[in-house]
Amino acid sequence: MQTIITKASSLPWWKNSVIYQIYPRSFQDSNNDGIGDLQGIIQRLPYLEKLGIDAIWLSPVCRSPQDDNGYDISDYQDIDPMFGTLEDMDKLIQTAKKYNIRIIVDLVLNHSSDEHRWFLEAKKSKTNPYHDYYIWKDGTPDEKPNDMLAAFGGSAWEWVPELQQYYFHQFSVKQPDLNWENPKVRREIYDMILWWMDRGVGGFRLDVIDQIAKEPDQGITSNGPHLHEFIQELSRETFQKGDLITVGEAWGANTENAKLYSNPDGSEFSMVFQFEHIGLDQQEGKEKWDLAPLDFIKLKNVFHKWQTQLYGCGWNSLFWDNHDLPRIVSRWGNDSEYRVESAKMLATLLHGMQGTPYIYQGEELGMTNVCYDIQDYRDIETINLYHERLEKGYKEEEIMHSIHVKSRDNARTPMQWSANDYAGFSTTEPWISINPNYVQINAESQLQDPDSIFYYYQKLIQLRKKYSIFINGQFHLYLDEDPDIMAYTRTLEDEVLLVICNFHNITRTIDLPISIPTDHQLLISNYSDSIDASTLRPYEARIYYFKK
Ligand code: GLC
Ligand code: CA
Repeated sequence: MQTIITKASSLPWWKNSVIYQIYPRSFQDSNNDGIGDLQGIIQRLPYLEKLGIDAIWLSPVCRSPQDDNGYDISDYQDIDPMFGTLEDMDKLIQTAKKYNIRIIVDLVLNHSSDEHRWFLEAKKSKTNPYHDYYIWKDGTPDEKPNDMLAAFGGSAWEWVPELQQYYFHQFSVKQPDLNWENPKVRREIYDMILWWMDRGVGGFRLDVIDQIAKEPDQGITSNGPHLHEFIQELSRETFQKGDLITVGEAWGANTENAKLYSNPDGSEFSMVFQFEHIGLDQQEGKEKWDLAPLDFIKLKNVFHKWQTQLYGCGWNSLFWDNHDLPRIVSRWGNDSEYRVESAKMLATLLHGMQGTPYIYQGEELGMTNVCYDIQDYRDIETINLYHERLEKGYKEEEIMHSIHVKSRDNARTPMQWSANDYAGFSTTEPWISINPNYVQINAESQLQDPDSIFYYYQKLIQLRKKYSIFINGQFHLYLDEDPDIMAYTRTLEDEVLLVICNFHNITRTIDLPISIPTDHQLLISNYSDSIDASTLRPYEARIYYFKK
């Protein structure tokens, strides 16, 4: 007998939900200008309903000069004409509701665009009422306040000769940091959020939220002393007035502060995106471009730590991919011979754990990384890195290798809908080239194949909704030191889920961590047959369900 989640349970809706991330400019173009848009998303809602997701996290669609693809907002209360209008956004929110899909808006609150009205005012004079909305330092053009660096290269300080001052920016020069110490800034932000809540959104994703409480004088960017105070006020003034999902992006999260961020009392967010697993294939203390092989044992330990330490006192988000990360099947799976098997294995490993899973557009098709020449990249981070490293004397070949492996544009190529021209994304040349493998890898063909990655994700989503143990079961890791296998259970009273995944391209025989009774159910598996329970072929993955 399986436990069915009843409506009466007091579980917040986002605990048994699966979220789908859309990068709007690359999802579906509806007016054939080569750029994805809101009407395009509306057209594709039936596809998302079929997949079974509960909410869409929409990367930013607000008005923006697009220096960082919309993560530089010049008007938080309007839609960029490239994506449509405010009416289109309302239409999306309302139409999605009919499909039982909620819309999660991406809030970029650490910084605005330098073309935002506030910054244009702030720059006019030191006495302008908006001056204090940003972070300024007096100085001289040849002596920066300190040597802090911006994430997209160069100094974090930009000189404004008219004011004889520097302003602070953690990202590009077109993304000045907002001054959260100023209560007026915070009030403006809360009012803007309440305005979005009135439009009926289902939640918010909070961009680099752990960086809002910076203290540039002390070189502090993330986890500043006032961070949780600010977040609690933000939550009290806004989110707590609705039934929302909120997820903060926090590169500086650890299991201790994640318990605050995702405190079940609702005082901060529903959960955070933490990135400890994401950094495991780079050289320690260096940048993401400084590649190292994935430490698989560490990966297991990291998941183990997050799963056990947040149990009952926090909530995990589960993800492999997003618009800033390479495609997981290319990164830690196998994007050639075992693309299908490894994509399904990675999905199994992730969706079996406790937390809210996020699927990044195209992940459900096993979309892969790309290998472009430098002129085909569009991402500001990638382009800046290329020039910076060339100047520093790195070999071009080495730089391009890092870009092929890690560039954010790997995730940003257009969604592969069909084998038609431009992959069914548009009828014209898109803003960024399409991955040439769209002829083999596309939604149309997978929808016709019952064994496709698409239907595997669909099934995982259905299982999570059917068996409450996916939501509540306690996590135990087995075979910790095994170099190839990740095996864990989730247990809830007398119920057990056993998840076994072979992470590598070899066949392995293992000692099963616990015995599987004969009256078990094999809930899902990425091979159609099974040799025996203790033999796992390349990338083989299974989830068993049984009673103790
Ligand atoms: C976040 C976004 C990323 C953006 C950066 C600055 O990390 O996910 O795309 O460039 O913040 O807003
Ligand atoms: Ca368009």
